[in-house]
Amino acid sequence: MAKTSDKKVAMKGVILAGGFGTRLRPLTLITNKHLLPVYNKPMILYPLETLKKAGITDIMVVTGREHAGHFMQFLGSGHEYGVKCSYAIQNTNNGGIADALSHAEDFSQGLPVAVILGDNIFEQDFSKDIASFTEGAKVFFKRMENPHRFGVPVFDKSGKKIVRIEEKPKKPKSKFAQTGFYVYDNEIFTIIKTLKPSGRGELEITDANNAYLDKGKLSHGIIKGLWSDAGTFDSLHKVSIEIAKRGL
Ligand code: G1P
Repeated sequence: MAKTSDKKVAMKGVILAGGFGTRLRPLTLITNKHLLPVYNKPMILYPLETLKKAGITDIMVVTGREHAGHFMQFLGSGHEYGVKCSYAIQNTNNGGIADALSHAEDFSQGLPVAVILGDNIFEQDFSKDIASFTEGAKVFFKRMENPHRFGVPVFDKSGKKIVRIEEKPKKPKSKFAQTGFYVYDNEIFTIIKTLKPSGRGELEITDANNAYLDKGKLSHGIIKGLWSDAGTFDSLHKVSIEIAKRGL
């Protein structure tokens, strides 16, 4: 189990664990994707440990009503894992990441939030990013050859400044993928209320990130080490093997 950073931070954690996991059917017909095994433990423990390692122990799990009971049964109060867990039930299971996050507004109590997608597995230690966060939003990219399955940043000529983030572009304009770890000040909840559903009918987290970008309040980091989502047969299989190999 990950060690908690010594420094207590005034930030809440949110794990988004909803959705139908359609890309993993039939595995997800009766089980939530985030409870499937990744090597030797249920997937949800990886994002939980990423938050804990970063010093965040007050954590809300947002999920759909079908499987909410399973999460409560498994994680309980969080005591066993050295965290405090709360739960929120999404009104719709397919409203998108930003819609899921909106359910954590009351829980956030006006504080910044570190948001992690329940199927994202990181080796990265985010504790410095969390400890130094003051305002705006911070997103994290991972370099890869073909990031078309992800949000992809477009950089200006200097190659340093992001001009926009494109969601799943057919022709990515950079070799970076937007990972599923985001840090926001509390304005995120106001921004989410202004978002409109995308082509796939979802409130996109990328649109929220672009709203921060337009205000000049988006910063970014590049992550190192293992990162994978585990939302497809291929990625779920590969990440399990990597974790076993690296002893993570
Ligand atoms: C989501 C985000 C995407 C991000 C990805 C990371 O994609 O929309 O920008 O790169 O998570 O896992 P989705 O899982 O909805 O396909």
